[in-house]
Amino acid sequence: MTRARVAVVISGEGSNMAALLYASCLPGSPFEVVLVASNNPDAPGLTLAQGEGVATWSLSHKGLSREAFDEALHQAIASARPDAVALAGYMRLLTPGFVQRWRGRLLNIHPSLLPRYRGLDTHQRALEAGDAEGGCSVHLVTEEVDAGEVLGQIAVAIQSDDTPESLAARVRLAEHQLYPATLAAYVSRHQDAGWIEARVDEIARELPEVSRKTSHGAPGWAVGTEKTAKLFAIIADRHHGEEAIGLLVKASGADEMNGLIEADPGLYYWPKYYGASGWLGLKLNRPDTDWTQVRDWLERSWQAAAPPRLTKLMRAAEEF
Ligand code: GRF
Repeated sequence: MTRARVAVVISGEGSNMAALLYASCLPGSPFEVVLVASNNPDAPGLTLAQGEGVATWSLSHKGLSREAFDEALHQAIASARPDAVALAGYMRLLTPGFVQRWRGRLLNIHPSLLPRYRGLDTHQRALEAGDAEGGCSVHLVTEEVDAGEVLGQIAVAIQSDDTPESLAARVRLAEHQLYPATLAAYVSRHQDAGWIEARVDEIARELPEVSRKTSHGAPGWAVGTEKTAKLFAIIADRHHGEEAIGLLVKASGADEMNGLIEADPGLYYWPKYYGASGWLGLKLNRPDTDWTQVRDWLERSWQAAAPPRLTKLMRAAEEF
């Protein structure tokens, strides 16, 4: 199994980084830590990482513009070729440029149950509000601080004698469980047939008159009215021992299919049984699926299956 490469960015203690690093040592971990980076050359976490044989990079942000520092950080991270970047107690705001370059691959851990208490002093705010529980969240990073999609959370009960410090200490224990598990699920999502199906569903439903239909029990999408609905896409989840979780779409015929498979065998395959009826397989359980290409294939396959009344409409809309 190739493991996802993860860069961790810290400013201080680095206890979450350590939790990620040691979780990555467990057998079967789907990720490895390839770099620990910091804006603080004295961060204790750097020493820990070095001791474990992990590459580190640090540069003090002092005296540098935010843009200049983020550019240096970007270069350092990019040269480690990570699949994901985990912010773990990174105490600086990132420039929108940095966030955009790593969009979809940039995660953060925040010590509150988001969307409650973005920003600082989360524990104190939870106590002042009289909340019954605090907690922690792992979320995707977007330009707006602590506002990206929440990927996982753990709630931590608040005790009557809690101080911000005592609550923070317990939340930290929960963080050390949450981050490795959430990161592991996130970097493995492309092997999850349910996740793949949900993404295809989102795209397929943008096309006109699409409904769900199964093909020999496999999830599929059809176009047309209830009576005429014709399949144009099917998910074959490791069908008959195949390695691929594949999206089956209609190609023009065997010649085109053979040509595509020869040109790009990492993406295209000849699906068992279905291939003979003109279905081409696209392997979707890959970390680097090009979803624009998937969208193009779905549209093409939809056009091949849709009744003329719909394809005419589509063509008219395109010419418009
Ligand atoms: C954690 O509480 C984390 O939620 C927040 O900063 C703290 C970092 O702690 N973003 P550590 O450096 O991982 O020990």
